[in-house]
Amino acid sequence: MPEPEVAGRVFGDGLDRAAEFVDMLERSGVERGLIGPREVERLWDRHLLNSAVVGERIDAGVRVIDVGSGAGFPGVPLAIARPDLDVVLVEPMARRADWLNEVVETLELDVTVERGRAEEKVLRKRVGLADVVTSRAVAPLARLAGWCLPLVREGGMMLAVKGASARDEVARDATAVARVGGGVPTVSECGVGVLETPTTVVRVERSVRRPRRAG
Ligand SMILES: C[S@@+](CC[C@H](N)C(=O)[O-])C[C@H]1O[C@@H](n2cnc3c(N)ncnc32)[C@H](O)[C@@H]1O
Repeated sequence: MPEPEVAGRVFGDGLDRAAEFVDMLERSGVERGLIGPREVERLWDRHLLNSAVVGERIDAGVRVIDVGSGAGFPGVPLAIARPDLDVVLVEPMARRADWLNEVVETLELDVTVERGRAEEKVLRKRVGLADVVTSRAVAPLARLAGWCLPLVREGGMMLAVKGASARDEVARDATAVARVGGGVPTVSECGVGVLETPTTVVRVERSVRRPRRAG
């Protein structure tokens, strides 16, 4: 499928790799049940570009853990568009983790794949902490915060790609997010002026715990 004009702006030197990822998804992603057949015609807009623009909220050179990557979103497009990032993909399903390993190998990405659930102690120990924990379509905000914030270093943040429900989720779950160590969630759009439909992202900082005073 030919790439849209903005793809060059978003992926820069990574454009060929992005096109190869689209090719893999078209050829075997559908066949192996990683994406639905109806997604093929919107791979660039709804999946690759929509994921890569989240990089607008991520500082240079930081460590990123993508929770529940599935077929690779948003972690793979982010890693392609931003080779300065140190990206880890977390995915519990063997079939999907195998696919992600194949993608990383074929595209020669400097990305690690870890199989497991984000809330598992062993997984947490294995992946360590990140400056930023991303996710897309993994769980409602309260549950997601309970899974992602323990993987965020103090002062770092989680960025959850959400759809039209973002503001309602924030209103509903802000108290639950605070209970698991999150700051006040904020909603913003990435890819404004680049994408026809910008990506809605919920950002939650991990609060810095103040040391208890003696006496
Ligand atoms: C609806 S899919 C979304 C996949 C991808 N993020 C996307 O936007 O295309 C949800 C993914 O989250 C994964 N997942 C579910 N529970 C999880 C958990 N506790 N920790 C990590 N990943 C999880 C699932 O295996 C699945 O791949």
